[in-house]
Order: sequence, then C-alpha cells, then structure tokens
Amino acid sequence: MKLHINENRKLSHIEPEVYGHFSEHLGRCIYGGLFVGKDSKIANVNGMRSDVVDALKEIKVPVLRWPGGNFADEYHWMDGIGPKDKRKKMINNHWGGVIEDNSFGTHEYFELCKQLGCKTYVNGNVGSGTVREMSEWVEYMTFNGVSPMAELRAENGHKEPWTLDYIGIGNENWGCGGNMTADYYGNKYRNYQTYIRNYGDKPVKKVCCGPNSDDYRWSSEVLETCFRHPAPAGTHGFMDGFSVHYYVVVNSWEHKGSAKEFSKEEYYRAMRKAYYMDEIITRNDAILSQYDPDKKIAMLLDEWGCWHDVEEGTNPGFLYQQNSMRDAQVAAATLNILNKHSDRVKMGCLAQIVNVLQAVILTEDDKMVLTPTYHVFHMYRYHQDADLLESYLEDVKDVGIGEDVAANVNESVSIDKDGVVTITLSNIDADENNDIDIDFRDKEIESVEGFELSGDMMDYNTFDDPSKVREKSFEGFNFEGREVKVKMKPCSLVTLRVKLK
Ligand code: AHR
Repeated sequence: MKLHINENRKLSHIEPEVYGHFSEHLGRCIYGGLFVGKDSKIANVNGMRSDVVDALKEIKVPVLRWPGGNFADEYHWMDGIGPKDKRKKMINNHWGGVIEDNSFGTHEYFELCKQLGCKTYVNGNVGSGTVREMSEWVEYMTFNGVSPMAELRAENGHKEPWTLDYIGIGNENWGCGGNMTADYYGNKYRNYQTYIRNYGDKPVKKVCCGPNSDDYRWSSEVLETCFRHPAPAGTHGFMDGFSVHYYVVVNSWEHKGSAKEFSKEEYYRAMRKAYYMDEIITRNDAILSQYDPDKKIAMLLDEWGCWHDVEEGTNPGFLYQQNSMRDAQVAAATLNILNKHSDRVKMGCLAQIVNVLQAVILTEDDKMVLTPTYHVFHMYRYHQDADLLESYLEDVKDVGIGEDVAANVNESVSIDKDGVVTITLSNIDADENNDIDIDFRDKEIESVEGFELSGDMMDYNTFDDPSKVREKSFEGFNFEGREVKVKMKPCSLVTLRVKLK
C-alpha cells in the first residue's frame, strides 16, 4: 500500500479544539474524577485532582465543554454559585437519580480550565431554562463593569470576568433537551442568541444545536428556520457553530455490547460505524453550505465516542465503561476523519473526559489509569494548530467479516509551524501486518521519529496492570530520499514525525 503526500499543498487549518473534551455532571466524571474538593485526602489544587490535571495537560486539552449534555438542560447555574453550604441540593434526574450538591459550579469550572490552560465552552439551558437565565449567566461570566451579575460575581470572590469562548444554545433539543421540533427549536435559537451579549473584547461564539448524527432533516429544518429571515439586527455573529453528535454503538441501544469482551465481527462493526462519521460530516456540511458556502459557521462534533454497556456491578446511570484497543482504533480513525474535514470541523469533544463512556482517564479513589484512548490523544497532539496536507492512500483494501467491513488503513497528515510533518496511520486489521510506502512529492527526508500503540483488539489497562497498552517508540521504518517504508503490526497505530530537507 502507498501513502502519497503533497507537502506543498496545505488544505485547511486544524484548530486545536478538534482535540477537545466533554465533561458532564454524570456518574464520576466531575465528582471523584476531576474534582474532589479542597478537603479531600487526594492531592488537589483548589479541589481539582492533581494527578488527573497533570495527565490531561500532557495531551494538551484545548477546550472543555461543560456542564452537559442532558444535564445542561436541567441545570440552573445560580444553584452552583455562592457559599457551598448554601448551594441547593438537587436530583440528577438524567444520571442515576443521585444527589447533585452543586459544589462544582461556574467558579470551579473556570478554575479547572485555568489549571488545564484550555478554552471554555459552557452549554446553556434551553430545555427548562429561560432566556433571562442564560443571558444573565453570560453577564455573570463576562461583564466587567457595574451590573447586578458582575457585582454578584465579585461578592462570590471573583471580581475579574472570565473569558467565555463558546456557549451552546441548548443540547440535543431534538431529544432530552426538550423534545422540540426543528422549527420550534430554530425559533428558540433565534430568540436565545439575541440576548447573548458580547461584553468582553472577544466575542462569545454561539453554538446551535444540530442533529443527532444523520438526522439531516433536523439540520435542514433548523437552518431553514434560522436563516429564512435575516439574522436579528443589533447582535454580533448570529451563529458561529453547529453542533453534531455521533456515538458508535456497536449493536443496538438496548444491547450495546461489552466494552471488554467482543467478537471480531463486533470489532469490525465498531470500525465500520466509526468510518460512518465521514459521511455524517460530508452530508451535514453540504446542508450547512446551502446557507454558509464560505464555511464561516463551524461544525462542532461536540459529542463523539464509543458507547458500550456499563461495567458490570456499576450504576447503570453512571455510564462507566472500560476502554480497549478497539476504542483506541475508533478514536484514531475518528480523529483522522475530523482532521480531513478541518475546513468545516473546528471542534470535536470526546465523550467524556474521565470515568464516563470513552474516557481518556479512569479513576478509583486515589488511583488513576490512562486508557488506550488517552495514548491516541497523546500521539495525535502534534496535529493541533497544524495545517492539513493533501494525502491519499493507494490500494486500500476492505477488511472484516460479512457486512462488517472497513478500509484496513486510515490516515491523516499535517505540517506544523516549524515545518515538521505529522503522519498518523492506523492499521485496523486485527490479524495482519500492513506495509505502507510513504512518498513525499518533492522534498527529501532529513529525519523521522516514530511512536506506536499496538496490542490485541481486546487489550485494556487496569488499576493493577496500568501499562498493558501504552505508547512506545516505533522502530519499524526506514527512509531514503523522499520515501519512508513502514511495517505496521496488526491492530496498531503509528505516528511519524518527519523533518524534510
Ligand atoms: O454523553 C452522554 C449523553 O449523551 C449526553 O448527556 C447527551 O447529550 C447525549 O445523549
């Protein structure tokens, strides 16, 4: 197989946010995973777990979406500010019916983002909130002057405003976020976004609730309602982002399948479904282009990942699952697809960052383990803020069983500001090696450095064996002139960093 790269042709910029994450008040994502509180025995800085924050800094988390998800459309932000002992306790209706004590709220979220050094993405409540509530939340977060919300923020210990980079106008309003029709939501969007004022120097980017994966009818109707009339006067950017959610559910929503024990058919089915992301983006992009041919509105894949059955013996509402080499392959393929669509896709948020769904980190009391998916994000971090290069694979073959077949290799290639090329390749074949000859169009190669993640499709890390699957340096290549020859193991991923002459 050949991989052709045209190092002279930059196609689009890969925004760092494509490598973003999602955190929800769900199970042990926030409580226990990211946040333990100042009085915890677990090492923390202002309540944030130090081991988790340090590990996340290594993968350069560029943006963190919060507080949901479904939780966002039941969240009333004023419950989560002020003295902790006065904060309301509520039921987390969506996720296990447990008590939410609101000890993690707006101030804690911004503290976490400060520690991570990442951008902020707050999802507002359209399902059960009000226009005023969302508008005042933005005022509370961003207004620097004399106003009721700015004063309240100062009373609560934060005089300075924060930078809010993105605001989601609702979440999954076609379902858990209010079961709205597309036209009704489109009108809600028009209404809510009007009162998102721009107080700081930097405009807050407004995100519209797009479809559940391939529900193209929702995309068309929402956009039609939003753009049928000109955008309301007197507001800054009417729509900056259009959010799309897509989960890889291997079997069915009722019987998703185990995260740890699965057949080869189920492995390839997961891969086939992961590759479907490409079609979902292409078709939603075509619809968006009807209204925005210049691609000014970003597509945000702000929830993606594998959704398996919960780990046996855990609360079904906590969505805690293990994470194998199969998940790593899904992540690698997805990130390659998002890179390839970086002309339109400006953000991706893996669901979810810690202890929920396809997490990059799992914790148990004071223990922490990095999942195979964590290593993918580490190996792909070089793509952040780089330019996508034109590349294509020749002689790709389908691999799989029955209907569950998918291309045996996927890839993407970028070039960073220093001119270093990053190639990320994954060989999804569970049994066979793959030899790939990479050629550059004009330039000769000066040096190559490689990293690899490999294992059996069912390998995963545990608290007792945390390094079964881990990134290693990769030696299976040689280079000469304009060519690199690579030998990939079965079920493996490789990152190559290539300096050209
Ligand atoms: O990530 C879990 C849930 O999946 C989110 O709360 C919701 O937006 C989606 O349905």
